Amino acid sequence: MGDKEIKKQAVAKAAIDYIEYDDIVGVGTGSTVNYFIDYLKPLKNKISGAVASSIITQKKLEALGIRVLDLNEVSEIPIYIDGADEVNPYFQLIKGGGGALTREKIVASASKKFICIVDESKLVNTLGKFPLPLEVIPMSRSFVAREIVKYNGMPVWREEFVTDNKNIIIDINNLDISEPIKTEKDLSQIPGVLTVGLFANRGADEVLVSNKDGVYKMEKANK
Ligand code: A5P
Repeated sequence: MGDKEIKKQAVAKAAIDYIEYDDIVGVGTGSTVNYFIDYLKPLKNKISGAVASSIITQKKLEALGIRVLDLNEVSEIPIYIDGADEVNPYFQLIKGGGGALTREKIVASASKKFICIVDESKLVNTLGKFPLPLEVIPMSRSFVAREIVKYNGMPVWREEFVTDNKNIIIDINNLDISEPIKTEKDLSQIPGVLTVGLFANRGADEVLVSNKDGVYKMEKANK
């Protein structure tokens, strides 16, 4: 296993300490979360169940015998564990590299506490080097792309990719995200944009980071 995988595994393991008896656990999507799901398996009879943020996560949970609950059956999720593509010092995130941003945002928003698990390569001072994913209704693809150009971003259609919700993804390169909350709000208002992969308005509550020395809890910067 490479260094990066070891770091992902370590931070996933650390997140297990946050799970309490009887919890309903919101479960994100991605390679880091996949390790978390493996560590969750021995707790499957201690938790009340899991709410999945993607079909792939749902399948993995079910394959390990972890009870998956429909979000509509659940009033509040005490804890959500997910990775990210970028994390800034204010715990604001870019997510959606794997295309699961809409369901991730829904489950994160329905959760009381969002614990983000990343290896140190995801930490940035300013968001936006990682192309910002948008989930877009297919008929609005060209229109949304033209609107993005007005924000000086370079839209790239993630061809051949269809989301769990049967939509498409446009990744925005070179976008200035110096004001993440404003950018999240502005882009969300473009007709045809279902979800912006910026988790700025509702960022993470805690960020666990792994580096070569182990796992640490990140200090949130003051604005
Ligand atoms: C999925 O759509 C993403 O938001 C992932 O949470 C994010 O890309 C992190 O994935 P990795 O853990 O695979 O880097």
